[in-house]
Amino acid sequence: MSPQPPQLQVRDLRVQVGERTVLHSVSLDAVPGSLSVLMGANGSGKSTLGMALAGHPHYQVLGGQALLAGQDLLAMAAHERARAGLFVSFQSPPDIPGVKNNLFIRTALNAVQEAREQPALDAFDFLQRAKQAAQGLGLPEALLARPVNEGFSGGERKRNELLQLALLQPRVALLDEIDSGMDVDGVRAVVALVQKLRAAGTAFIVVSHYLQMIEQLEPDAVLRLDQGCIAETGDLELARSIARTGFARAPQALEA
Ligand SMILES: Nc1ncnc2c1ncn2[C@@H]1O[C@H](COP(=O)(O)OP(=O)(O)OP(=O)(O)O)[C@@H](O)[C@H]1O
Ligand SMILES: [Mg+2]
Repeated sequence: MSPQPPQLQVRDLRVQVGERTVLHSVSLDAVPGSLSVLMGANGSGKSTLGMALAGHPHYQVLGGQALLAGQDLLAMAAHERARAGLFVSFQSPPDIPGVKNNLFIRTALNAVQEAREQPALDAFDFLQRAKQAAQGLGLPEALLARPVNEGFSGGERKRNELLQLALLQPRVALLDEIDSGMDVDGVRAVVALVQKLRAAGTAFIVVSHYLQMIEQLEPDAVLRLDQGCIAETGDLELARSIARTGFARAPQALEA
């Protein structure tokens, strides 16, 4: 069997935020069903990578390439990237006052359904599906009827990101510290959902500092971001060594 082509291919991505070039040359691949953990010190640019791929206007791409299922991701508007199957969760999910959570997620899901040439879900069918998914994630159903994230606790916001992931079933998902602020059941829900979607072909890039979850995710690769580049690629041993010795003592930093 020939190897599967990558769902996401990033080459020499260079990204500026404010006055600073945060990413100098980032390259990575994500094949269907794979999971790469992205680690790096605070401020090393992990969220910048997610935001730049998602098309956030504050993150200026200065160079490089990104292909999603062979399409030029960087040429697309942010909503087209989502329709094409990219999902990026927020490290700090924002409120959207005045927009009901269920309408927000249904609109997103139906846009993706249309792009996949699948029928739209009406309010009733969507609500049934959303309630079932919310229950599986330990998210109170009542939060579906509230404005997006407004008054949600930290962990509820993260579970709401997971709900979107569960319903949208993207080709590629970048999860940015999805575990932070989550209780032990929340972290279990992350692992279970990620493994389920991975088995169905979603390619994951998971940003996390939490070794216990990283181990449970059984990653194919662990990447360390430093100085705007993927400075090191390894397996779980790399995550364990970072947990033991910290980023400052990682090999690349010792040479500097
Ligand atoms: N709007 C902005 N203006 C200037 N600098 C910014 C802006 N947004 C982000 N940065 C800087 O870009 C750098 C990378 O930030 P980023 O959020 O990508 O780091 P991170 O690796 O995700 O860190 P953490 O582990 O703390 O989440 C940081 O030094 C940050 O201060
Ligand atoms: Mg971050």
